[in-house]
Amino acid sequence: MIFDPFPVFLPAEYRVKFATQTWERREAAALRRQVFCEEQGIFTGDDRDDVDAIAIPLVVISSLGVAPHDVVGTVRIHEAEPGVWWGSRLAVACEYRCIAALGSSLIHLAVCSAHARGCRRFYAHVQSQNALLFRRLHWHTIEEIELRGRPHHFMQADLAYGFLSLPKRAA
Ligand SMILES: CC(C)(COP(=O)(O)OP(=O)(O)OC[C@H]1O[C@@H](n2cnc3c(N)ncnc32)[C@H](O)[C@@H]1OP(=O)(O)O)[C@@H](O)C(=O)NCCC(=O)NCCS
Repeated sequence: MIFDPFPVFLPAEYRVKFATQTWERREAAALRRQVFCEEQGIFTGDDRDDVDAIAIPLVVISSLGVAPHDVVGTVRIHEAEPGVWWGSRLAVACEYRCIAALGSSLIHLAVCSAHARGCRRFYAHVQSQNALLFRRLHWHTIEEIELRGRPHHFMQADLAYGFLSLPKRAA
């Protein structure tokens, strides 16, 4: 008997939210280590820094039925000076990329949440391979720079863009 290969099962329901539970923060930290230390090799051992003491972590939680399953995406936001916010450490677990706009949804919630808290400027250092993704979400490049030996775009979100619905992709 020959069995056809079948695709790996992945939960199809996700919640994008502030990390309010201890396990959500713990799993978000583990996902960051997985992506930025093991996969990308940007940091050794741990990627936490001083910003984590003041940053607000956001997460994507996958669900199985009504039960939360796993943290499959994360980003953090912080206010560096009054009205000036930054997003950083955006990561989606490898097997969940490009399937449900999870990265885009995290960026959207990050900017909306800061905007609701009085943000007047929202910045990020974006790895160059992701600049197109951000441009599609109405960010623009201020400067191309190198950080930790890698090319980055210093980018700013367009806060004038509508925040009530997910942005439509530009052509
Ligand atoms: C960057 C990242 C968060 C994107 O997450 P994601 O969930 O795959 O993003 P989305 O599904 O919302 O992407 C939306 C669209 O942009 C595309 N896209 C995703 N990453 C892209 C990239 N690097 N460049 C151009 N387009 C990209 C997707 O294909 C998708 O297009 P589609 O709707 O036609 O399929 C994820 O790839 C990741 O974690 N990468 C490793 C860590 C990293 O680079 N972090 C960012 C540091 S700046």
